[in-house]
Amino acid sequence: MSDIDIEFVKQVAEEAGKRAIVLIESMSPEFKADSSYVTDVDRKTEIFIREQLETRYPDFGFLGEEFGRHGDETAPLWAVDPIDGTTNMVFGLPIWCVSIGLIFEGEAIAGAISMPRTGDIYWGVKDQGAFCNGVQMTAPDRDSLHPEDTLGFTSGAIKKLNPQNLVGRLRCLGSIAMDIAYTANGSLCCLVGLNEGAYDMAAALCMAKEAGCSAEYLTGEPMEIDVILKDGKTMAPFVIAPPKMAALIQKSLV
Ligand code: IPD
Ligand code: CA
Ligand code: CA
Repeated sequence: MSDIDIEFVKQVAEEAGKRAIVLIESMSPEFKADSSYVTDVDRKTEIFIREQLETRYPDFGFLGEEFGRHGDETAPLWAVDPIDGTTNMVFGLPIWCVSIGLIFEGEAIAGAISMPRTGDIYWGVKDQGAFCNGVQMTAPDRDSLHPEDTLGFTSGAIKKLNPQNLVGRLRCLGSIAMDIAYTANGSLCCLVGLNEGAYDMAAALCMAKEAGCSAEYLTGEPMEIDVILKDGKTMAPFVIAPPKMAALIQKSLV
């Protein structure tokens, strides 16, 4: 599986992002049963990505947020969020992305994330590193929290947990895939999340691990992508960060 053509995956993510920018001009948002936004841009983008990946990897399975899971359950699985950060996209905020991850033997082993509004492209492959625009990402670790440290939280996590006494600047950006990618490159010192799916996080988790981050629940239990796949979503608060930072956050929030 280490021979996955990541250049091809990057191209698909970037092309999907460019198409999304055009589709936004006439986008029609609606609400899902859980009151979250979905648009025709999300659906058309997922169909485009699935068709592209199928031409090159016809035997792989596919899981997308909008149309669910298809294909051989034992094959490598594409885990795709066509638009992560739909609410931001609907409201005209620039933090949203196309996220394509690959899961094999219980691990996120590759991924590409395209951020069309900034032109940034992130990617990672197991044992080959993680990159942003060609520059290798390493998440800087630290022994203590500084008042200026950027601490990423999802909207759900910030409402559920009590970060009141945490030292640092809270950041709630609206795209879990970008939150994790930003943690991998050190723009965020950590990301605390709550209720996310394998399609949201597969690509970014591969990058975060390659950049030296751990992914654990606040209890210290490791966050495994195959368990998330089985359960549908993460069931408890988690932190993604380099190990010492993760330990500080776990201690402060439990
Ligand atoms: C959402 C975003 C958001 C996170 C939500 C996700 P969507 O994804 O990643 O940051 O907090 O839980 O559902 O709906 O834009 O794909
Ligand atoms: Ca998502
Ligand atoms: Ca989505």
